Amino acid sequence: MTIMRYVRTLSFLLVATTFLCSPRLFADGPLDIAPWMEEEFQAAQMRLVENISPWDGLRGTVIASPSRSNPNYYYHWIRDGALVMKTIFHLSAFGNQNSTANSYFDLVIDFANLSEIHQNSETPGSLGEVKFYVDGTPFTGPWGRPQNDGPALRAITLTALAHKLYYNGSHPDLLVKLYDSQMPTSSIIKRDLEYISEHWRDHDFDLWEEVKAHHFFTRLAQSTALKNGADLAILLDDPFAAQWYHRQATLIDLELEKHWAPSEGSFLAHLDRISGVSYKSGLDASVILALLLNDRKDSKLGIHDDRYQSTVLQLEERFSRIYRINQDTHQMAPAIGRYPEDLYDGTGSSRGNPWFLTTLGFAQYYYRLADALHLQKAIPLTPINRKFWRSLLSDRPELFSLLSSARALERAKDETSFLAVIDELIEKGDQFINRVKKHMDGERSMSEQFDRNNGFMRGARDLSWSYSALIEAALERCYLFRHLGRSCTNSPEPQSSMR
Ligand code: NOJ
Ligand code: NOJ
Repeated sequence: MTIMRYVRTLSFLLVATTFLCSPRLFADGPLDIAPWMEEEFQAAQMRLVENISPWDGLRGTVIASPSRSNPNYYYHWIRDGALVMKTIFHLSAFGNQNSTANSYFDLVIDFANLSEIHQNSETPGSLGEVKFYVDGTPFTGPWGRPQNDGPALRAITLTALAHKLYYNGSHPDLLVKLYDSQMPTSSIIKRDLEYISEHWRDHDFDLWEEVKAHHFFTRLAQSTALKNGADLAILLDDPFAAQWYHRQATLIDLELEKHWAPSEGSFLAHLDRISGVSYKSGLDASVILALLLNDRKDSKLGIHDDRYQSTVLQLEERFSRIYRINQDTHQMAPAIGRYPEDLYDGTGSSRGNPWFLTTLGFAQYYYRLADALHLQKAIPLTPINRKFWRSLLSDRPELFSLLSSARALERAKDETSFLAVIDELIEKGDQFINRVKKHMDGERSMSEQFDRNNGFMRGARDLSWSYSALIEAALERCYLFRHLGRSCTNSPEPQSSMR
């Protein structure tokens, strides 16, 4: 470790210890996962920071993993980098303004500057280029390209940053670099939004880099990026662009509707496949990961949509059956993989395994659903979500009977039962966390996957995205607890940009 990195890690460690010594961040649920989670929340941050701005690379670079061979993940993937930096941005706004928050904020600014370098590179995949070496030059070897979720995810992260700069009135030069109303533009966000607007109809490779088709994940990321971008364009005096971006997002949403397969009871991850692997059924955890990116309140495909509940149940049932480790159900929800037919074992092709980031994504889903239903003050039962609720409440049949006889459980009418159902959602989220806890190693590190038969870690070590997923789940749980009026953190309420 170079001196600089050592100093940086040490200072993060110091501040994290202060966090640790302050009263409980994560209040208990029945499983009592909170104390462990609190420590893990800190540990994951330290591990993640280790993977940012490597000594041999440009500032703001996020290596997917430190692993340089078997597999070689020592690159900045546009997708992984943008998702990680979204988490870093969330951390920069979490709790009090303090030096850790500021260090996180600086990392996001480094990332903005790096994004400009990436965008200005000559690449075979245009802005949909997939991954870059840590020195900022593109990887141009054979690969599944373009991957058009990249510009969308990058725009989502940087638009959040731009909103913050605008409201804080800080970094005016950077704000202009991020967004201006020029056409053609050289500003970072607008370039991505223009690219999305022009290319969303194209076939491209999915987030798992295997199928060339139209993808639910990519489309929902594109629609969210355009809507968030349109809000920014309004603020920055670019009303016609805002209209245009909105219009494109609405058109994408119409395409997204086509992914719903009523006979399957799930959204299909891809349609109109033209090349790439051919053995996928379309049931895929990426649909849930896509939803988690979409925190817009105006969206039809948002957290309240009962079709996700049905998709979640399908995925859980399928992964329960195919992974041997899922036979152990004691206080644990099933380990979740990418999709049932997956063959990628982390280094080569044999049989796919469960992944940390998908299992954690499911935990986050349950916390977010609990939060949304609690705010809505009612839990509706529909023909589409009926099985989901029956399964969730299988140990509390009296609650399911109440729900199904009334067709909705309203807080105002029966607060005790309403809150009991919310607690069941929290417990389920905690059970996914408990699953992950079991399969990570004693040093609290998380690789990409864990073995479907024996549960030991597999694939690229210290995967950045795994840590980011843990942090997002922990934050989600914390917002939920705050809204429930249960203790979450000692610090004042987070800033308005936070949910
Ligand atoms: C094959 C995997 O299935 C894919 O998801 C991965 O991105 C590439 N190999 C590169 O590691
Ligand atoms: C393989 C995954 O399929 C892909 O989504 C990811 O971007 C790369 N690994 C790097 O983590």
